Amino acid sequence: MEIVRWSLLVLIAATLFLQNSSNVEGRYHFHKRKNKTKGSPVSAPPANSPVPEDPNPPTPYDPPTIPSDPYPNDPGNASSARTFDVTSYGAVGDGSNDDTAAFREAWKAACAVESAILLAPSGYTYMITSTIFSGPCKPRLVFQVDGCLMPPDGPDSWPKADSAKQWLVFYRLNDMTLTGDGTIEGNGEQWWDLPCKPHRGPNGSTSKGPCDSPALIRFFMSSNLVVSGLRIQNSPQFHMKFDGCEGVFIVKMSISSPKLSPNTDGIHLENTNSVGIYNSMITNGDDCISIGPGCSNVDIQDVTCGPSHGISIGSLGMHNAQACVSNITVRNSMIRESDNGLRIKTWQGGKGCVSAISFQNIQMENVRNCMIIDQYYCMSKACLNQTSAVHVNQVSYRNIKGTYDVRSPPIHFACSDTVACTNILLSEVELLPYEGELVDDPYCWNAYGTQETATIPPIDCLKEGEPQNAEARELTSACSCST
Ligand SMILES: *[C@@H]1O[C@H](CO)[C@@H](O)[C@H](O)[C@H]1NC(C)=O
Ligand SMILES: *[C@@H]1O[C@H](CO)[C@@H](O)[C@H](O)[C@H]1NC(C)=O
Ligand SMILES: *[C@@H]1O[C@H](CO)[C@@H](O)[C@H](O)[C@H]1NC(C)=O
Ligand SMILES: *[C@@H]1O[C@H](CO)[C@@H](O)[C@H](O)[C@H]1NC(C)=O
Ligand SMILES: *[C@@H]1O[C@H](CO)[C@@H](O)[C@H](O)[C@H]1NC(C)=O
Repeated sequence: MEIVRWSLLVLIAATLFLQNSSNVEGRYHFHKRKNKTKGSPVSAPPANSPVPEDPNPPTPYDPPTIPSDPYPNDPGNASSARTFDVTSYGAVGDGSNDDTAAFREAWKAACAVESAILLAPSGYTYMITSTIFSGPCKPRLVFQVDGCLMPPDGPDSWPKADSAKQWLVFYRLNDMTLTGDGTIEGNGEQWWDLPCKPHRGPNGSTSKGPCDSPALIRFFMSSNLVVSGLRIQNSPQFHMKFDGCEGVFIVKMSISSPKLSPNTDGIHLENTNSVGIYNSMITNGDDCISIGPGCSNVDIQDVTCGPSHGISIGSLGMHNAQACVSNITVRNSMIRESDNGLRIKTWQGGKGCVSAISFQNIQMENVRNCMIIDQYYCMSKACLNQTSAVHVNQVSYRNIKGTYDVRSPPIHFACSDTVACTNILLSEVELLPYEGELVDDPYCWNAYGTQETATIPPIDCLKEGEPQNAEARELTSACSCST
């Protein structure tokens, strides 16, 4: 029996890790667990699987999260033994001293111990430079920020040797938590004001010059992550970015930057699967949440966005790239004072598909383009129409209510000329002008679908049934994302 279950786990592990060979290096002990306290609810293994205490499992793959007893065989004061306080490693926390070395040392020590807590205690402001916190580490590592953690202030204080594309990177970790009741302050203002940024150049134009700005927190090639409780603000660029990750649970986060801060996406996902984003508030100057190519099984609930540019799938298919995004759910959320509401954007000339997207119970307040599919996304004026496109299929909008900004129609489905959008479903969509009167009617181009109930405003441009040409039919049946 034990052996059978063990093989099952190995199988799960192999499936999860096949595409991510660098994660196979960790070699840890595993213990039985009693109760699940952390770890992603969307990708964790069965909570009560017994796991043998074999330090050398007969497999090249390590299983995913196997949380264990908090203090196995430990009679002493386990919590203090496992807490690595950065101030004990020389962090000063006065906001100007460079505390990077202290964080690196504390990380090194904590990484080597199971269930360790790297603690940045409250009452201090720690300034650290761009740092890669890499694994593999022992399981259940917690990075706890109770104080304030920040990067150097602006491009001029950024060490020349450091990457200006990212600040904190968590790399090759499995089963790690970033939490605390502190603040991560991005000091973004001078980055937003660089002349290269949109409309920051002389005379309100964009001008040439170095433009890289650091994403504040990046998780790269990691799995079974929890990010909770923190306030993250004023990022120079994206606040949080996950690429190449598997199993991400984000809860009770507060992310904020000014409405006019450029490229300050709240949470960006790319090549990342099994993600839950819950109970969070995001206000910023770009997408509230953006979901890039290679993402699937993303569940978003109880999120409030705005001011922002809304929740966005894309952009996809840039430079004729193949993109696959599937099984994305956004529910019980609110979008207010935003440039877009629920957006799917693809470039001309891409390949692949966006499918099984569900938007449900979304309250809109003074939002432009509440529901938009834009398959002509273009950042310059020089995008030519092309024949291939990322296929948009099975997008449902249920119970989407509230008010829109009359400067653009609340519903806009601009699908590719050659590859129609298919299986769009509308049910209980009721959108009223926030103030003034709607000038343009809802717009659709080459969009197929059904209305379960009449929408407000009425939409009569959605085509019924399926596209007639053979190519489109083939695409509809072939659209499956196996990432
Ligand atoms: C585990 O969780 C169950 C249900 O939530 C609870 O009744 C039980 O006391 C918990 N056991 C431990 C050891 O925490
Ligand atoms: C363990 O140590 C911490 C910090 O020193 C202390 O607050 C806590 O009360 C101790 N717990 C036990 C059970 O001794
Ligand atoms: C900005 O506008 C002023 C006044 O119109 C002009 O003299 C100046 O050359 C412009 N600068 C640039 C970089 O276009
Ligand atoms: C879709 O994603 C959810 C998590 O958001 C997951 O529980 C579910 O199994 C996925 N469905 C499919 C068909 O993969
Ligand atoms: C691309 O196609 C769309 C839809 O047919 C059309 O409205 C638009 O003018 C075309 N753009 C170019 C640059 O040809």
